[in-house]
Amino acid sequence: MRLTDKERQALRGEKGEAVRIAAQVLVNLGEAYDADSLVPIASAHVVACSYQIAGEAGIDIYTRLAEAGARVCVPTTLDPSSIDFDRWRFFRTPPDYAERQNRLAELLEQIGVIPTWTCTPYYSLNVPHYGQHLGWSESSAVVFANSVIGARTNRLAAYVDLCAGLLGKVPRFGLHLTENRRGQILIELAPEVADNFRDEDFPVLGYLVGEIAQDKIPVIQGITEASFDQLKAFGAASASTGAVALYHIIGLTPEARDLDDAFQGEAPERIVRVRADEMAETRARMSTFHSGEVDLVALGCPHASIDQVRRYVDLLAGRRPHPETQLWICMGDNVKKTAAQMGYLEALEASGAQVMTGTCVNDCPLNAWNFRTLVTDSAKFTYYTPTTVGVNCHFGSTEECIDAAVRGSIGN
Ligand code: F3S
Repeated sequence: MRLTDKERQALRGEKGEAVRIAAQVLVNLGEAYDADSLVPIASAHVVACSYQIAGEAGIDIYTRLAEAGARVCVPTTLDPSSIDFDRWRFFRTPPDYAERQNRLAELLEQIGVIPTWTCTPYYSLNVPHYGQHLGWSESSAVVFANSVIGARTNRLAAYVDLCAGLLGKVPRFGLHLTENRRGQILIELAPEVADNFRDEDFPVLGYLVGEIAQDKIPVIQGITEASFDQLKAFGAASASTGAVALYHIIGLTPEARDLDDAFQGEAPERIVRVRADEMAETRARMSTFHSGEVDLVALGCPHASIDQVRRYVDLLAGRRPHPETQLWICMGDNVKKTAAQMGYLEALEASGAQVMTGTCVNDCPLNAWNFRTLVTDSAKFTYYTPTTVGVNCHFGSTEECIDAAVRGSIGN
């Protein structure tokens, strides 16, 4: 790799031990992927801030880094932790577990990170713009930044993300290079799918596209309108069932004004047509139960926007969750504060819904609840919670989820 004088100084430890370690990790990564150089980044986003992911090893690593005087040199935000910092007792988190997560938080704050504790840092405090290079992890945030904003980041691994924040650079390979952002698989929606595309079809299509594309770049043709939240849901799903880090939607996303733009003038490697029966089959397959009592309804994956919060308030109006069913809504602290200012938080709490911030249903220990069934509108939750929470999971539209919470059951 071509390195600048300053980068060589960093590698020799002339900028401190923490920067030396970060530079070495990033140069090793770059050499493994034949990067020609390091590229400056506008921001970093870190996943190894959750005790569930980082564990005692994380506390050990961050203690050493903090003792070595580590400080991030670009804005560096944090993914969800493993506790709701204000309400962990309500969510039945074991006290010793909460104490360890709090220790991780203290160490990370010494390193100078911005304690956002959200997987949607792009709503505020870490808002990239088109063409900027980033050093992000968190698959749902990476795919959003690349696809919807047109910023450039690979899916960094835990700890490599913090190294990026410490050095302010990442190796220039993969999605940092224009030629690697070319679409590879064309996904055409059949007319009966395209003409009737509903809000809940975004996560279902994302789930299917992730399975089809795996780590390739899919290009979707047939969606003509989408909100930020719908694109967020689509991307998070495709990044769960596959390793999609960038997608294009013709006419909607910034690097896909038309087919020629998305494929950079080349032909797709494959063309796949998605029919209505495949959408229905995918949706059915996303659920591991289809009727019966519901223990938990979980919304806000990825973390809810203020517009989604408004929608939950409207859908709940005058109704309450069934006494045997929990309704939990995950969001970042910033969105919660805005929801409080707008009266939405009070409305949710008055209805009996529980707002979870700083973490999510997938990231915190829920053994004490003995949940057996979960209903969600998130494809990412349907993919992970059968393993992480140990529940049977049912996917439904947001309206169906709120109805399930009120009835306490689905089906029949
Ligand atoms: Fe975010 Fe948790 Fe979903 S980290 S993307 S709410 S699984």
